[in-house]
Amino acid sequence: MEMKMEEMLVTSWYNLHSSVPPSHVHPPESRPGELLVGSSKSIPVIDLGRCDHPPHDTISLVLKASQEYGFFQVINHGVSEELMEDTLNNFKEFHGMPPKEKMAESSKSPNGICKLYTSCEVYRKDDNNQYWRDTMRHPCPPSGEYVEFWPQKPVRYREIVGKYTEELRKLGVQILKMLAEGLGLKSNYFCGELSGNPMILAHHYPPCPQPNLTLGSPKHKDPTLLTILLQPKGINGLQVLKDGQWIGVEPIPNAFVVNIGLLLQMISNRRLIGAEHRVVTNINTARTTVAYFIKPKDEYVIEPANSMITSNSPPLYKPISYSEFRKNFLNKGSSFEADLLYS
Ligand code: OGA
Ligand code: NI
Repeated sequence: MEMKMEEMLVTSWYNLHSSVPPSHVHPPESRPGELLVGSSKSIPVIDLGRCDHPPHDTISLVLKASQEYGFFQVINHGVSEELMEDTLNNFKEFHGMPPKEKMAESSKSPNGICKLYTSCEVYRKDDNNQYWRDTMRHPCPPSGEYVEFWPQKPVRYREIVGKYTEELRKLGVQILKMLAEGLGLKSNYFCGELSGNPMILAHHYPPCPQPNLTLGSPKHKDPTLLTILLQPKGINGLQVLKDGQWIGVEPIPNAFVVNIGLLLQMISNRRLIGAEHRVVTNINTARTTVAYFIKPKDEYVIEPANSMITSNSPPLYKPISYSEFRKNFLNKGSSFEADLLYS
């Protein structure tokens, strides 16, 4: 029997179970396990200091963090606390709406460009593991295209998400410029078409009766140039793989978490490496996060930048359109990243 998406959403059924159903139990080797007790490792925190022309040391801090961790947090980034809170509350409320209403609000676009889904639909067919998460996603380009398909509930959805994505666009440009300068590229190298079709993903991880058996998201690198994540205060969940160990990303109030995606790894010809990360669940607490994915349109062809190629550093990656890249990302599983390389 076909199940409807509204019935598959984890938020629709999680509270009917006192244990994790078999569909969502992961094999021992990919379960969360014990986090390192007393580990003092954490990802760097960088003060952006609200200035338009960041000092040279900020650029080197950003570049160093990107090379060592692929992850950092930014504070004093210029986005208001009020807007961050409104945005998180908007998506918390969205995921808390009745399933039918959520589905209706997220099904306004042709071809499912804007949609609410859970893992069974989007992950590859040979992967039986389901994830403890629902996601609402839609494009949010600066042109305003697609706004007509965005949800209209909660009532301030379009106003808040419109403002938020405009601010995140500015922050994204600021960070991309620092990365470009740090890499020795023209400062606006990433700021045109390459980052012209961003997407917002609002994840919701309901409370989970047995967090040690499942995951909110599997280990992955993002299919983006850069991802900027808003996470709620005081609730852990995101973990980064650093030198073979998982380290938790501390939810610092009013900070954003920034990570390097696989597209920057390809364009920089591996001078930057996309960071591997995953999400664990919590037993008594739901967690809502908002990811801003910086990426190009489907037609755009990704390849190493000319100036990243030298006689000592020949191109590692084959040119590939973003649509093909995305299709392989969803379908190929573990061989995906290796298949991007010239053999
Ligand atoms: C993502 C992601 C982390 C989180 O959206 O790709 O890794 O904590 N999100 O929601
Ligand atoms: Ni991610």
